[in-house]
Amino acid sequence: MQKTQTYIPALGYDFLTAYYDLAIKLTMPEKKFRRLLVDIIKPNSNEKILEFGFGTAQNLLLVKKECTDVDLQGVDIDPKVKEIAAYKIKKNNLPIPLDLYDGVTLPYGNNQFDKVYSCLVFHQLDAETKIKCLKELFRVLKPNGKLIIADWGEAANILMRLTFGLVQILDGFKTTNDNVRGLMPNFIERAGFDNVFIANSINTAIGTFSYFTARKNEIIKVDFQKNRWHSAS
Ligand SMILES: C[S@@+](CC[C@H](N)C(=O)[O-])C[C@H]1O[C@@H](n2cnc3c(N)ncnc32)[C@H](O)[C@@H]1O
Repeated sequence: MQKTQTYIPALGYDFLTAYYDLAIKLTMPEKKFRRLLVDIIKPNSNEKILEFGFGTAQNLLLVKKECTDVDLQGVDIDPKVKEIAAYKIKKNNLPIPLDLYDGVTLPYGNNQFDKVYSCLVFHQLDAETKIKCLKELFRVLKPNGKLIIADWGEAANILMRLTFGLVQILDGFKTTNDNVRGLMPNFIERAGFDNVFIANSINTAIGTFSYFTARKNEIIKVDFQKNRWHSAS
C-alpha cells in the first residue's frame, strides 16, 4: 500500500474526532437524514453493499439492522474512526467488516458491489479527489450497480447558503464550495455514471443536504466472433 493521502478527519481536526457523534446530534436532524439514506439505499438480502467513508459506523449499523442478511462492509481512510466504528460494531454484535485504504486505490477488485453509498464524505474532498474517488467507486460497482451519495448540496435559499458557512469554516472552503454551488451531479457524471438524480433534499440548520443517486450503466457490445452479447466491463 502506498503512503496514505492527506485527508480531513470526520470533524475537521483529529482531536475532535471523539466528539463527532455528539456534534452531528447537536447540529443535524440525525434520525431524519440517516433514515432517508437507508430508505434510498433499500438494502436487500441478496446484495453486496459498501459504505465509502464509514466514519463512526452510524450508517453501517442502521443499514445492517434494516436488513441483517445484507452483505455489508465499509472502507475509510482514517484509522482513528475505524477504532471507534469497530468498537460500536462489536458492541452491537453485528458482522460488518471494515477496511482502511490509502486514499488512492480501494482494496477491492472491479465489479464487486451492487450498491455503494457514502454520507458526508464528498464535501471533505477537493475537486481532484472527488473525481478520483468517484472513479474508484465506479470501478468497484457491478454493471448496473447503484451509487448513493448523501452530502451537502446546492443551497435551497439564502438562509441555507449563509448557515452553510459554519460547515465551511470547519471543513474548509476549498472542498465545500463545489457542493454548495450544486456541482455534485456534474462530478458524478464526469466519473462515468449515468442516470444522475437528486433523489431528495432537506434543509437543516447548517445547510441543504441532498441525496444523489446514479447508475454504472452496463455497456453492451456484440461479440460477432462468438456471436453473443456480453458486458464490456
Ligand atoms: C464527516 S465524516 C462522515 C462519516 C459517516 N459517513 C457519517 O455519515 O457520519 C467523513 C468521513 O470521510 C472519511 N474520509 C475523508 N477523506 C476520505 C477519503 N479520501 N476516502 C475515504 N474516506 C475519507 C473520514 O475519515 C470520515 O470518516
